[in-house]
Amino acid sequence: MEQQVFGFGIEVWDNLVVGILILFGLVETIAGNLNRTNRKFGDWIQEAGSFFALAGLIKPTIILAIVVLGNALFPAYMDVFTNWNIGLVLIGYLLIDDCLQYWYHRSAHEYPFLWKLHRTHHQAEEMGFFVSYRNAALYYVIMPNLWWGGIVTFMGGGLAVAIGLVLKQIVIIGSHSTLSWDKFFYRLSFLRPVMSVLERIIITPAFHHAHHGKSKLDGVSDPNGNFGNMFSIWDQLFGTATFTRQFPSDYGLPNDPKEHWTAAYLYPAVQSKDQNSELSKGYVKTRTATPEPLTVELKKGEAYLWCQCGMSKTQPFCDASHHGTKFKPIRFEAQRDGKAKLCNCKISKTSPFCDNSHESL
Ligand code: FES
Repeated sequence: MEQQVFGFGIEVWDNLVVGILILFGLVETIAGNLNRTNRKFGDWIQEAGSFFALAGLIKPTIILAIVVLGNALFPAYMDVFTNWNIGLVLIGYLLIDDCLQYWYHRSAHEYPFLWKLHRTHHQAEEMGFFVSYRNAALYYVIMPNLWWGGIVTFMGGGLAVAIGLVLKQIVIIGSHSTLSWDKFFYRLSFLRPVMSVLERIIITPAFHHAHHGKSKLDGVSDPNGNFGNMFSIWDQLFGTATFTRQFPSDYGLPNDPKEHWTAAYLYPAVQSKDQNSELSKGYVKTRTATPEPLTVELKKGEAYLWCQCGMSKTQPFCDASHHGTKFKPIRFEAQRDGKAKLCNCKISKTSPFCDNSHESL
């Protein structure tokens, strides 16, 4: 019986997720989005290959590891959920799974090693259903919520995990897809109140596309926010949510050295030979902040991103070097034409403008 529950869980997870992918793929193709794609071979390999490696190798290996470890170390916990109400197990599984993934994803933007495993996800210059799975292999191997899914399956909640994963993949694939189902709701005024509730619960395409936008300059994107995967409640709870109901004009990473897909997918086992790449051996980000402010020419009404991390090569403006740290740039619009003294010591209390705090250094 236990083994049937395990088998059923794994089988249903992957077959239904493949089914959802095929459905989104067909609809994206019919809508013409895939035909117009500029994806290169390396993009396809990473996006489709990563999905099949995840479903066919990484996930089954994690499940097997949990089964072996669970049997050896915690045999008393096997199948304890079997007689529980499946609705309760499903809700508990999903909430813990999604909260874990929120923090894991957020950490992947805030810590350098995890960022290197995740950055290929943000190198995609086009959205699409397969972008959902574009990450380095190691990113998935150590993803805590995958291990959590294995634990719940071991404890007899395989069916709840199977149902939960399918529901979650519908939301995740939908939020990466170019089909952007939510636009329909924004267009029709009588549906907007429905959207106001829905977007506060689940991740919508607009909410997640903003996370993939190239930079905050467009006033829509927030690559250092909107980290949620299934539910938007975590972003709202932990102060990282931005709802604009708009879509970025550009996707991808600024100054992307476009590493070979082998380095992007297999880091750290394979590293980039390009010395400008974060994935190359010995690459370090250096501090470029200086004690003195920098005087720059600003244009009234134009938006700028001021570097807060102190590592940009284009000081005092941001060049996206902050990825992999807890810093993010400050967006501001110039109020008048002319010269302005911008802080470059990064301790001004009136940033981005200099308040002479550097004199205390
Ligand atoms: S480079 Fe973006 S905040 Fe420093």
